[in-house]
Amino acid sequence: MFNLILFGPPGSGKGTQSEKLIEKYGLMHLATGNILREEIANKTALGLSAKGYMDRGELVPDEVVIGMIRSAIENNPGIRGFLFDGFPRTVAQSVALDNLLAENDAQIDLVLALQVSEDELIDRLINRGKTSGRSDDVNEKIIRARIGEYENKTSPVAGHYSKSDKVVKVKGEGTIDDIFDQLSKEIDHKQS
Ligand code: AP5
Ligand code: MG
Repeated sequence: MFNLILFGPPGSGKGTQSEKLIEKYGLMHLATGNILREEIANKTALGLSAKGYMDRGELVPDEVVIGMIRSAIENNPGIRGFLFDGFPRTVAQSVALDNLLAENDAQIDLVLALQVSEDELIDRLINRGKTSGRSDDVNEKIIRARIGEYENKTSPVAGHYSKSDKVVKVKGEGTIDDIFDQLSKEIDHKQS
């Protein structure tokens, strides 16, 4: 198995690059934000419990997202690998993920961390908010709350994986194709 985390703050391009990477490397895309938005659209109990947190730009509780990832891993045996997008977002989530993968004799092989300035993140998300319909893109206050959650709770996840030398920083500004080429180069290097 080859398991990759695409890491970075809100608006850094995780979703955009994931779509291209899963195609090229045959990985399964596990994006907790997308799964949560589907649950909300389907008005499930899980979706209803997560909606308030998401609308405020706060992280939903660890046990909710860990349960989602556990089911996804258990329901996809024999897979080539996963691309985790927007997960793990706390150190507790990383520890849970490492344990879930270890149960399948697997591990996180690489963490690619997209580097984008805060001004650029805010510009991208305000711009997307004009058409996305995403409740957490509607104003700068909520966007800043998301970035604050990232800085306080999510950035330590990079520290967790850098202990085992798994983190590679990649510049996340420039054209989508150039960034994709850089990400691909790092994956090819890791797999060679
Ligand atoms: P989630 O859905 O994961 O959103 P996010 O990480 O806050 O950020 P985005 O998905 O908006 O950004 P992205 O990095 O994917 O960038 P994108 O490619 O879209 O999470 C949403 C919420 O769900 C959280 O706040 C939380 O409440 C909850 N949640 C989810 N996972 C959780 C977890 N594990 N634990 C707890 N709670 C969780 O690009 C952004 C924009 O920029 C787009 O318009 C795109 O077109 C544009 N763009 C992309 N690349 C470029 C480029 N190179 N140049 C210019 N523009 C670009
Ligand atoms: Mg995304």
